[in-house]
Amino acid sequence: MDNPFIIKSYESKELFCDREEELSLMMRNCANHTDMTLISQRRMGKTGLILRLFDELKDVSPEIHSIYVDIFASRTIDDFIKLLAEAMMKSFRPKTSWGDRFMAFIKSLRPQLSFDSLTGDPQLQIAYQTVHEKEYTLRNLFELLDSQGEQIVIAIDEFQQIREYPEKNVEALLRTYIQQTHNLTFIFCGSKKHLMTDIFANAKKPFYSSTAFVSLGKIPEPSYTVFIRRQFNEHQRQITDQAIQFILEWTRRHTYYTQQLCHTLFANGCTNVDIDDVKQACNQLLTQGEAVYLQYRQLLTDKQWSYLIAIAKEGSARKIMAAEFLKKYAIGTPSVSRRLADALCEKGLLNDDIDLNGTTYSVSDVFLSHWMERQ
Ligand SMILES: Nc1ncnc2c1ncn2[C@@H]1O[C@H](COP(=O)(O)OP(=O)(O)OP(=O)(O)O)[C@@H](O)[C@H]1O
Ligand SMILES: [Mg+2]
Repeated sequence: MDNPFIIKSYESKELFCDREEELSLMMRNCANHTDMTLISQRRMGKTGLILRLFDELKDVSPEIHSIYVDIFASRTIDDFIKLLAEAMMKSFRPKTSWGDRFMAFIKSLRPQLSFDSLTGDPQLQIAYQTVHEKEYTLRNLFELLDSQGEQIVIAIDEFQQIREYPEKNVEALLRTYIQQTHNLTFIFCGSKKHLMTDIFANAKKPFYSSTAFVSLGKIPEPSYTVFIRRQFNEHQRQITDQAIQFILEWTRRHTYYTQQLCHTLFANGCTNVDIDDVKQACNQLLTQGEAVYLQYRQLLTDKQWSYLIAIAKEGSARKIMAAEFLKKYAIGTPSVSRRLADALCEKGLLNDDIDLNGTTYSVSDVFLSHWMERQ
C-alpha cells in the first residue's frame, strides 16, 4: 500500500493539500504573462507548488507548456547554460521544425551528450566557450524558446544561486534577455529570502520590480486537518481530532515536517491513530535525527550552539535584545545576541520572520528544535 503522505517532490492533486489561493493567483499570472517571484522558508512547499501548477496547466490550459530548471547545483554561468539546455531538451518534441532548429543549435555548441544511467535524463557536456560565446549561447537559448510561438512557463528554482556565480553582470544579462522575450513567463523561486528580496526588490538591481511576488506561508489549519483525516480514512484507518491537532501543533504546520510526521505514523501501520501513537512517532523521528543533530554541534561554536538551544527553548523568540532574554540564557550584551542570531540565520539554522510587529526567530528545522528543547 502506497503511503499517501509524500515527502518528496509532487505526485498528484489528490496527495497535495490546499494551496488553492496561491494556485489560482499563479494560474492568473500565467494567463497574463506576468513573471513571478515565489519565496518562502525552506521546505514550505515551493517546488511542490510549481509542479502542482504545471499539472493544473496541463489540465486546464494544455496549450501552455512548462519547463522546470533547478539551478541549485550550478556554480557558474556555464552550469546555468547546461542546466537550461538540458531542461529544454527534456521538454522538446522531436520531428518539429523547432525541434530541428533547437538540436542544430545544441550541436553547434560541440557538446557531448550522454544519458543519466538511472533516470535516462539527457546530460550535456558543453565545450569550452569564451565569455562572449557564453552570452551568445544564453541569448540564443531564450530566443529559441521564444521563437516557438507557444506560451511557455519556465520555473527557475533556487534562483538566488546566480549570486554565487563568479561572472559579473549575470543579473543584468539575464534581465535583458528575459525582457526581450514575448512568449515566456518566468517563475523565479528561492528560499534565501534576503538574497531573493535583494534581487527583486532592491531599486538598484536589474530585476527590481519586474515580477509579481507570491509568498508561501503555512497551510491553514482547517484544510490540513481535513486533508490528514481524509488520507487516513481513504485507507480504512481512523485518526482522532486530538491526534491531528497535536500533529499540526508539534510540526508548527511547516509542510515538510507535517508530511514527515504523518508519513511516519502511516508507515507505523496504526489503524486507529490516537495521540499516544503520534507522540511515539515524534520520539521515533527525534531519535532518527540525533546523529545529524550531533554533527551540527561539531560545526558550531559553543556560543552558537547554546544560542540555538535558547531559541529552541523559547519556541519562537521576538525580543532577542531584551534584558530578560539575555539574562535568562546568559547571552551577554544585545550586540552579542544580534551577532549570534545573524550568524545562525546566515547558516540557515535560524529563521527570521519579519512582520509589522518586528522579527521573530525560530530554529529552522522543527525536529531539531524539539530535540534541543530537551537538552
Ligand atoms: N501542499 C502540499 N501538500 C502535501 N505535501 C506537500 C505540499 N507542499 C509540499 N509538500 C511536501 O513537503 C515537502 C517540502 O516541499 P518542497 O520540497 O516543495 O518545499 P520547498 O519550499 O521547495 O523546499 P526547499 O526550500 O528545501 O527547496 C515535500 O516533501 C513535498 O512533497
Ligand atoms: Mg524546493
